[in-house]
Amino acid sequence: MDRSFCIAPMMARTDKHFRYLVRQLTKKAVLFTEMIHTNSILFGNRNKLDDYFQIENPIVLQLGGNDPESLSKVCQMAENYNYDEINLNLGCPSPKVKSGNFGAALMNHPEIVKRCLVAMKENSSKTISVKIRLGINDNDIDESLDDFIYQLSETGIKVFYVHARKAILDKLSPKDNREIPPLNYARVKKLKKDFPNLEIIINGGIIDYFNQKKEFSELDGIMIGREAYSYPRKLKNIDSNFYGIADANRSLSDITKNMFDYFETLDNQNDIKKGLIHMHGLYNGLKNAKKIRILLSNSCYFKPAKNEIIDLINDNFKNVA
Ligand SMILES: Cc1cc2nc3c(=O)[nH]c(=O)nc-3n(C[C@H](O)[C@H](O)[C@H](O)COP(=O)(O)O)c2cc1C
Repeated sequence: MDRSFCIAPMMARTDKHFRYLVRQLTKKAVLFTEMIHTNSILFGNRNKLDDYFQIENPIVLQLGGNDPESLSKVCQMAENYNYDEINLNLGCPSPKVKSGNFGAALMNHPEIVKRCLVAMKENSSKTISVKIRLGINDNDIDESLDDFIYQLSETGIKVFYVHARKAILDKLSPKDNREIPPLNYARVKKLKKDFPNLEIIINGGIIDYFNQKKEFSELDGIMIGREAYSYPRKLKNIDSNFYGIADANRSLSDITKNMFDYFETLDNQNDIKKGLIHMHGLYNGLKNAKKIRILLSNSCYFKPAKNEIIDLINDNFKNVA
């Protein structure tokens, strides 16, 4: 799988509706599910793994958890689905996640992580990867990071998505943990030098990605989170810029129409509501974006809203997509 451009996993954002939207803009970008905890699959809604559409590959299933047995069971279940890769979340700093001792908290427990990864590899034919931070709390990132990566790589895993900042558990909220610990891109580049055989994909604060592509050329790819969600229109040139294939080149009104056609196939009002919210970013920066957002916010009114939005685009935003 070519991981040159990846869209980061984001809870409550990168669900199947947002991924459907992204696929209107790029065929090749690697997409992630939101993080799903193994317990919520094993003891909750087993259909969660079904939340997938053929149109979406390449797609990575991201799991949260720390129990090798549960992870192996979910990996076995995932064999029935067409995910390309299964990723273990070792970067989430939220207090709830920390109290469950998974996510970033596991960066201080390489032995547990190794057992999880071995179990996942033994029970899956898919690539197993991890998403990590540079470290947590007072870890010395010069020493502990290489040691952590070395230990994990002993299990045979080769793909590391690295959010280029530490996580500070307990003291900062998840939101602040995405802003306050400083980014350190140089440390990620050094990782690639120290482990040239591993695939290292860099994440964190990358906004101007067409230009920053050069800055990260020694790495194996870049991963974009918030910028992709807030400004999905920018994704329309990913295929040509990162993969050397023709862009889908859909106009904004065509994308809008496709999304509404898709919503009409959904039975569940909640799904429609979520999908409409994910469309807000599509119009960011355009004149009348606010008017469109108001129309999108009313899921009961979504059928007539379609024509009103298309009219707004056709009248005011011709050729802007
Ligand atoms: C709303 C939100 C939800 C997130 N959920 C997850 C998640 O489920 N799994 C994960 O590994 N990271 C999650 N993250 C972190 C992102 O994947 C990414 O590492 C972070 O936003 C930094 O990248 P960015 O600066 O490009 O946004 C989330 C981020 C946001 C903003």
